[in-house]
Amino acid sequence: MSTPDASGTNTAASNNSVSKPQAATGKLGVMIPGMGAVATTLIAGVEAVRKGFAKPIGSLSQMGTIRLGKRTDARSPLIKDFAPLADLNDIVFTGWDIFGGDLYTAAKTAQVLDRDHLEQIRPFLESIEPMPAVFDQHYVKRLSGKSVKTGRSKCDLAQQIRSDIQAFKQKTDRQVMIWCGSTEIFLEPTAVHQTLAAFEKGLVEEDPSISPSQIYAYAALKEGIPFANGAPNLTVDVPALIELSKQMNAPICGKDFKTGQTFIKTVLAPAFKTRMLGVSGWYSTNILGNRDGEVLDDPESFKTKEESKLGVLDYILQPELYPDLYKDIYHKVRINYYPPRGDNKEGWDNIDIFGWLGYPMQLKVDFLCRDSILAAPLALDLVLFLDLAARTPSLRGLGIQEWLSFYFKAPQTASGLYPEHDLFIQSMKLKNTLRHIMGEDLITHLGLEYYD
Ligand SMILES: NC(=O)c1ccc[n+]([C@@H]2O[C@H](COP(=O)([O-])OP(=O)(O)OC[C@H]3O[C@@H](n4cnc5c(N)ncnc54)[C@H](O)[C@@H]3O)[C@@H](O)[C@H]2O)c1
Repeated sequence: MSTPDASGTNTAASNNSVSKPQAATGKLGVMIPGMGAVATTLIAGVEAVRKGFAKPIGSLSQMGTIRLGKRTDARSPLIKDFAPLADLNDIVFTGWDIFGGDLYTAAKTAQVLDRDHLEQIRPFLESIEPMPAVFDQHYVKRLSGKSVKTGRSKCDLAQQIRSDIQAFKQKTDRQVMIWCGSTEIFLEPTAVHQTLAAFEKGLVEEDPSISPSQIYAYAALKEGIPFANGAPNLTVDVPALIELSKQMNAPICGKDFKTGQTFIKTVLAPAFKTRMLGVSGWYSTNILGNRDGEVLDDPESFKTKEESKLGVLDYILQPELYPDLYKDIYHKVRINYYPPRGDNKEGWDNIDIFGWLGYPMQLKVDFLCRDSILAAPLALDLVLFLDLAARTPSLRGLGIQEWLSFYFKAPQTASGLYPEHDLFIQSMKLKNTLRHIMGEDLITHLGLEYYD
């Protein structure tokens, strides 16, 4: 039996000896630090689907199918019927934010969903109030809010989050945490991030390299709870928290939901490379008017986002392997805060490519998207798949869940391993992982058997 390589394209291997995931019984508690546009759109959407007002469009876990066996077998169940995912009716939400008030008010402020949608589920949204947050304006310059915890040290604050989690554990059977908070300033790993012992010492000593998102992540992992990072912050992408994740069998993944421009970029760039077309320049710009746009207007937060968005092309196009095609790409990413657009972002790309004998061509993309409408289904899939990973013997002790790269702009990988950014490689990895844990043959698309 062989195992999948990084692209998931090995020969088929049946995997009947694997121990399958445990069943999803009872309530799944979803804990969200940062209950703004993405979180409220996720929660409102899940409730609308539960009530039968809407379909979970954009969610692979809810609407996607998975082919099993040969093309001639006609076996393509829904993913949610194939893998034991939590049922949407069993999800319970809670979270933290620096702004007080209930989620109906937060969703109205976010201006993503229209009035009719919100009124249908108003009592439900009013029933959820974010808990006071661990927050420090040093890490998100453009925000200030009143609902903030105080403590003697970062260690004390982590303890307070753990107490919140412990209280929520009384109401739910399993829990997952997903960071939907603002993008923090750009931080690079320091000595305090290298080992769990150094990190715990840093919490006590108030090390400035430990950001609020890391305090939540530490608290979650210490409580044995999986953690996903929807923002580009460093957060769990440091050795200390990877160590804790493995120690506690609490899976992790990140970073930065792959929703708009980067989603399209990771479809187009592999297409050019597959056809051996050159790229000389890729200019990407956005206008965005929501609170996320306001936070990203701060250069220090923008730097975090920029790093996450820029990495993609280099990894996909591999200029070191194809110097004639990709060595001298000029790649630029801009985000401009433009309030009139609210959450309805517009992303433009101008792509300069070249073909046979070097003749130049251009492609222009104008994506009039809706940021949180694209992000909410990704957040839903992530909590369901992370919960599945925590119930799967062969996945839960691995720490990083690279098979969830599909959802991220800057996928977390094992140290020394480059990330896969190509959306279709990511999709194949995800589906082959599901086949693998459920004891089904992997699909390689070789297909010679049809011609025997
Ligand atoms: N919407 C998308 O398409 C998309 C794509 C990729 C990444 N993201 C990232 O997802 C995150 C959320 O986006 P959004 O549009 O919902 O932003 P938002 O500004 O509407 O919501 C973020 C919320 O986080 C809260 N917050 C900030 N620091 C906090 C802390 N320490 N503890 C608790 N709450 C805190 C803020 O008060 C705010 O309510 C951002 O980091 C954004 O960059 C969004």
